[in-house]
Amino acid sequence: RRTIFSGIQPTGVPHIGNHLGALAQWQKLVKEAATQPTDQRDSLFFSVVGLHALTVPQVPAQLRQERRDMFAVLIALGLDDPAGGAVVFHQDQVPEHAELAWYLNTVTPVNRLMRMTTWKSKLATLRNANSEDEVDDSMLQLGLMAYPVLQAADILLYKTSHVPVGHDQSQHLELCRDLAQVFNRAYPGRRPDGKGKGKGVFRIPDVMLTTHPRIQSLRNPLAKMSKSAPHPASKIFLTDSPSEIRSKIKSAVTDSTAGVTWNPEDRPGVATLLQVHSGYSGESVEQIAQRFSGPSGIAELKEELAEVLSEGLKSFRAEFARLRTEEAYLRGKEEEGARRAREAAQATMRQVRAAVGTD
Ligand code: TYM
Repeated sequence: RRTIFSGIQPTGVPHIGNHLGALAQWQKLVKEAATQPTDQRDSLFFSVVGLHALTVPQVPAQLRQERRDMFAVLIALGLDDPAGGAVVFHQDQVPEHAELAWYLNTVTPVNRLMRMTTWKSKLATLRNANSEDEVDDSMLQLGLMAYPVLQAADILLYKTSHVPVGHDQSQHLELCRDLAQVFNRAYPGRRPDGKGKGKGVFRIPDVMLTTHPRIQSLRNPLAKMSKSAPHPASKIFLTDSPSEIRSKIKSAVTDSTAGVTWNPEDRPGVATLLQVHSGYSGESVEQIAQRFSGPSGIAELKEELAEVLSEGLKSFRAEFARLRTEEAYLRGKEEEGARRAREAAQATMRQVRAAVGTD
């Protein structure tokens, strides 16, 4: 039986890039699980990873709101569907994540963490900001360096077999697999019958790469759609109203060639519109391009896309708006999620402590 785990940082309401890149796949996995016979059903865990958010400076009131918003988003997307749905929970409400991260820290080579692209890009940013090549060492925190170890703990804590993520996470997943193997070898524990060495506590997880391509910014087709990009029209949030959607799509940067063709290399702006359309309509990008090949194709495609998006996000928008007025209900869901996750997490930690000798 598969155990599936994935996490998302609490960065407020996600945009359609986050949705197509990650959350839509989570929804698909939940739908799939609902059709499986109960005794073969996947176990699913989806977590809002508040502890990871602390690796960059946070304002407490804002973090509190963004954690809650992200949790409400996951519930509004139906991920905790009673028919075989996932355990949706806050990582920071299950203390075993931090505990296991510590155990993993003790088998993690520091030079491995220094080779991580996330760490290296942080270094590069600081170097640029400071113009001379000297980096202010006080800006390089241990927590940021250990970020991938905490991520490995998230995954291993649930004896996860599959981790659905985007390509940007592959390096972290590689580290997670290695740490699981190193730990299993260092602390094999005892066989269940007590006779001889065990095989170690952790299952080695496989990465399940999202098939959907990275969605680009609507203002700059060469950059990815990003939360932190300053231009508000560069991204569409899942909560945007139909009129906001229409005006953002209308102003999306394309090119001056007449008619729509599928050519992501030379026409990245048009390609983004086609990918988003395809992501929400299910029609292939080539087919959509074909339908809008006429001279005023781009304007017509934009019109239809605004329609497809408004329709595609409608039920989410309504459910999210409703949930936001249901404080008590959401707090209850948070408690329930943390309790269910914790049950599994505690069982694993008991085995880890027994294998290590801290029991
Ligand atoms: P995060 O919060 O940055 O992103 C969540 C998921 O979204 C994917 N993603 C994208 N996919 C396609 N196109 C994009 N433009 C795009 N932007 C983001 C990411 O690949 C990811 O799957 N470190 C993780 C959070 C995490 C985690 C975990 C994930 C913590 N613990 C354990 C899996 C398992 C992160 O920062 O994701």
